[in-house]
Amino acid sequence: MRIEGKEYRTIWYENDVVKIIDQTKLPHKFIIKELKTVRDAINAIKIMEVRGAPLIGGTAAYGIVLAIQENNDQEFIKKNAENLIQSRPTAINLKWAVNRMMKKLSGINNDQILDVALKEAKEICNEDEKFCENIGLNGLKIIEEIYSKKKNTINILTHCNAGWLATINWGTATSPIYHAYKKGIPVHVWVDETRPRNQGANLTSYELNEEEIPNTIIADNTGGILMQRGEIDMCIVGTDRTLSTGDVCNKIGTYLKALAAYDNNVPFYVALPSSTIDWNIKDAKDIPIEERNSEELSHVEGVDENNEIKKVLVYPKKSKAMNIAFDVTPAKYVTGLITEKGICEASQSALKKMFNKK
Ligand code: MRU
Repeated sequence: MRIEGKEYRTIWYENDVVKIIDQTKLPHKFIIKELKTVRDAINAIKIMEVRGAPLIGGTAAYGIVLAIQENNDQEFIKKNAENLIQSRPTAINLKWAVNRMMKKLSGINNDQILDVALKEAKEICNEDEKFCENIGLNGLKIIEEIYSKKKNTINILTHCNAGWLATINWGTATSPIYHAYKKGIPVHVWVDETRPRNQGANLTSYELNEEEIPNTIIADNTGGILMQRGEIDMCIVGTDRTLSTGDVCNKIGTYLKALAAYDNNVPFYVALPSSTIDWNIKDAKDIPIEERNSEELSHVEGVDENNEIKKVLVYPKKSKAMNIAFDVTPAKYVTGLITEKGICEASQSALKKMFNKK
């Protein structure tokens, strides 16, 4: 998608290095950063220079490539594969991508291992782009249906950033929106600010602006009253891990939005590529939920009058704060899952049928 009119993907490989858009500096500064070692890739995931489930999967895949470039000893690669998996616990795409890479590399000799790894990392990213495009085309049908009845601007609420910046391109939750806009359907997006890190305000609103899609940032608690007033036609969010039961783990606050949507009969959709489905865990309590540094809550970042990025304390110095990063929305509150294969109910039987699982 575009930034200042130029097409980008979120990650690419060039001259033996991996290039990313440093998302910790957005929306104020657009900086392309080089990852030269697997340590750089792990750090970029940990400090969220790259974030969003599909993108951290893609970064981890390239992390394996960088590890091989440094040292193609099996033990070194295996140890770093484990370190990559540990770098963020909740999004399943990370583990999925590393395991896919390691499976592909098993039994490959030293002369070929770098080429094979590079090809697979590129394939993981290309596939994600294609899947997100298909999610958009599938989700477009829902928007078209609502538009055929309403015949007026479709107001869509989204939470966090499940946009193209969270994937390789297109995004998951935003892909149907981009497709609808391209088809000439008038859309307007209510963007949840998404405290504490403000991925909605800093990233979703930014990327929608760059694509000229009308959007309005709201405080996270505003969605409820907008639904009561009939100002939200549908919600579309992303997910970091969707269980085969249809329970959806996503950015903290998603659950409360789903409850409000349920109470107000607003359709609540979750958009995801199949790489985000955890086919193993059955009980949502077993999902490792990331708890991050409380400084993300107590401090905020912005630019000062000299356009310098500054971080300031906004809480009382003596106050404690707790920063749980994700929550789980039970399947019963999810209207449907928008996947690359089509739209299905958030249930084990529907997901298994959609993905041909026994
Ligand atoms: O902590 P983040 O910014 O990585 O959280 C991202 C989200 O919660 C997204 O909704 C999710 O990864 C889906 S991305 C297409």
